[in-house]
Parts: sequence; structure tokens; C-alpha cells
Amino acid sequence: MDSYSLSAAAKINLYLEVIGDRPDGYHELVMVMQSVSLSDRLTLRRLNVPAIRLNCDHPLVPNDSSNLVHKAVVLLQSRFPQAWKQYGGVEITLEKNIPVGAGLAGGSTNAAATLIGLDMLWQLGLTQIELQTLGAELGSDVPFCIAGGTAIATGRGEQVDSLYGIDNLYVVLAKYQNLSVSTPWAYQTYRQQFASTYVSVSVERESRQEALRSGAMVAAISHQNGSEIGEHLHNDLEKVVLPAHPDVQKLKETMVSCGGLGTLMSGSGPTVFTLTATQAEAEAIAEQTRSRLSDPDLQLWVTSFTPTSIQMVT
Ligand code: C5P
Repeated sequence: MDSYSLSAAAKINLYLEVIGDRPDGYHELVMVMQSVSLSDRLTLRRLNVPAIRLNCDHPLVPNDSSNLVHKAVVLLQSRFPQAWKQYGGVEITLEKNIPVGAGLAGGSTNAAATLIGLDMLWQLGLTQIELQTLGAELGSDVPFCIAGGTAIATGRGEQVDSLYGIDNLYVVLAKYQNLSVSTPWAYQTYRQQFASTYVSVSVERESRQEALRSGAMVAAISHQNGSEIGEHLHNDLEKVVLPAHPDVQKLKETMVSCGGLGTLMSGSGPTVFTLTATQAEAEAIAEQTRSRLSDPDLQLWVTSFTPTSIQMVT
């Protein structure tokens, strides 16, 4: 085949706890990640010239070498020079639906789809673990985006253990279009304000991971119990992002007042989500949020949990 089209799903964090500093400068985390069906679409096509071409008409997405999609091609090109020589260059068309700078791993899921698409286009025959190891070089969330579904993610986020997930929950996503939060800023600010709560990673890593594995959120997922999942949502990064962005704080309070199973900011934000048991309830909450805040900059999506992240589309 000379071309492949793939859908690449966004993620939300059902649980995000910061443990402490790692020697590599990142933070040690324990998280539960969940794919949601809001997706971008990537089409990868072989070129007959040795070039990397990226087409994306989203105003906030660069088409140059700073894009994670481009970096994913360069990474595989350097690791598999023979395949690059044999199959030549690639043109990738990226249709964005996932908002940018949103805490939904949009860039990471695009990179994951690029690795999977090139693996097929260049007939590399890489395993999921090999793809995840490569993905970890591009970003902490990329290995999860390769696995998809529901997973515990530890280390800097790149250690992924898949869980048997729940697939009949709906999600209202809400984000102010003109507001993005930088992930490095969120973690740096967290460090500045909460370094005194950090524990020694080498001593605590195992017990914190064990606490998550035997804790209420993972139990709720294994019981397939949406209400329990909603009760145990948690994100440490809310402690820095919400005070810095009163609009996001207000958005969260408004969504909480509209009902649902639980409401949380995803990742480093600023997207806020509410879980619901039915699509009708999710649509009602989206509508109420829209009318209570009545802000033309507020974007809302109704989406659902999905057991996969990267899928071939025709
Ligand atoms: O891995 P990724 O490129 O997505 O991370 C973006 C930034 O977020 C890192 O440069 C770092 O500042 C911060 N980060 C962190 N600890 C993590 C993941 C990300 O401090 N576990």
C-alpha cells in the first residue's frame, strides 16, 4: 500500500498524582489515562522524493520540523535508514479536531499515529513495545497513545500498563478556544509551589504505584462502576492551573453544578471534563454549561470512552 489513513484519539487523565523529582529533570507520576473518541485524522502517503512533507491547515499547528509528527518521521528515518532509502519520503496530511495546548495529548497521539503508520508504510514489523520505546523519545504521553484504552501510566508517564476498561461512559469536554496551558509551565510552577511535599522517588516509587493499583480508582474501573470512577477523579496539577486561570476555575465550578458523575481538569489543562452515564445527559450538561457561561470563546464536545487510540480508517 502507498498510503494509510489513521484516526488518532485524544486522552483524558482520570487520575494524576505528582510524586517528586526524577534525576532526568522530569516528574515521577502515577496516573490513570483514558482514550476518548474525539480524534484527529492522519493520512500518510509515500513520496517518490526523499522529503518529509506535512500538511495541516490548523493555524496553531506548525508544518515544520517542530511538529511532533515531523519529529516522529525523523526518528524512524534515523533508526531505519534502509527503509528510508528503499521507500523514500513521506507526505502526511493532518486533519485536527483535538484542540491544541489542551491537556488532551493531541500532539502525542499524532506522533503515535505517525509511528504506527510509518511502521506499516515502510514494512518495519515493529512490535507495540518497540513502538512505545521509540514513542517515549518523542514525549511522555506517546507510549500511552500507542496503547490506547484505559491504562495506568507511571515513571514520567511512559510506563504503561493496560487495564480492562469501561467503554460505556460519556465525556463532556470544555475548553476556552483562546486559552492554552504550557505543560512545562504547569510542572515548573508545581515544583515551585509544592517541592516541599515531594518525596524521594527511589524510596516511594513502589509504594505510591502500589497505592494506585490497589486504590479506589483502579477498583472502580475493575468494577465497571462509572459513579465510583467519577467520585475518585483526581489531578494534582489543578492546584496550580486553576488559581492561575480563574476562568478555568469558574468553568469547573459551573460544570460541577450541571451534574454528571464527576468533573476534573485533564492533564496540564486547561480542558475540563465531566463524565456521564448516557449521551443524552452529556449533551444536556454541555448545553447547560454553554448557556450558564454564555461565552463565545467556550468550545464544548460530547465524546465517549474508547478502548483504542490509533485505528485504520478507509
Ligand atoms: O514529555 P513531554 O515532552 O510531553 O513533557 C513536556 C514537559 O512537561 C517536560 O519538558 C517537563 O517540563 C514536563 N513534564 C514533567 N514530568 C513529566 C512529564 C512532563 O516535568 N512526567
